[in-house]
Amino acid sequence: MRIFMDTANIDDIRRGASLGIVDGVTTNPTLVAKEGVQYRDRVLEICEVVDGPISAECISMEYEPLVEEARRVASWHPNIVVKIPMSEVGLRAIKTVSAEGIRVNTTLVFSANQALLAAKAGAAFVSPFVGRLNDAGHDGMEVIREIVAVFDTFNLPTQVLAASIRNPRDVTEAALAGSHVATIPPAVLFAMVQHPLTDKGIEIFLNDAKKYTPV
Ligand code: E4P
Repeated sequence: MRIFMDTANIDDIRRGASLGIVDGVTTNPTLVAKEGVQYRDRVLEICEVVDGPISAECISMEYEPLVEEARRVASWHPNIVVKIPMSEVGLRAIKTVSAEGIRVNTTLVFSANQALLAAKAGAAFVSPFVGRLNDAGHDGMEVIREIVAVFDTFNLPTQVLAASIRNPRDVTEAALAGSHVATIPPAVLFAMVQHPLTDKGIEIFLNDAKKYTPV
């Protein structure tokens, strides 16, 4: 499973990238607004740090402006994947720009049917929001499993990108469900490195190592 970072914080992205396990980054307007920076500037900064798919979200709600925005955003850098929210207008735009070779991440996906439609329109990724589904009383991971099963059944090339991940267990479950990608907030990613038994084990080994001359 590929690991993307779900953030627009450049320090966290640099820290994650330095670990050598980050394959891409997803942003959204909320994440960029938190940083108090201009969207294009930050997306281009991220492209310099991580060499992989970098999702940048479109905000136009009408077909023509949305297609124009998607083309404009995609032109910023070859690694940019344009994020388009699920809707009738969104599907039409996904179909148009995907046919032009622009990679699309369909965002705000909450059902297998939405994912199927996005895949048929040519989206490179679909982003089911696990945490927000769980918050609303649904089973977010079940939606991931359904989408993976549908895409497998019909050999659809669209990748499942588990989004709205809230804790390390979500990542394990997304991997077990066969999600192609999980986009992970920095705090969750860094927590995944940790285990109390690892810390305890290191402490024991370091104490025992004092009993002989280091090489
Ligand atoms: C990623 O592409 C999404 O924008 C993000 O995972 C949403 O997460 P949230 O539900 O925690 O805001």
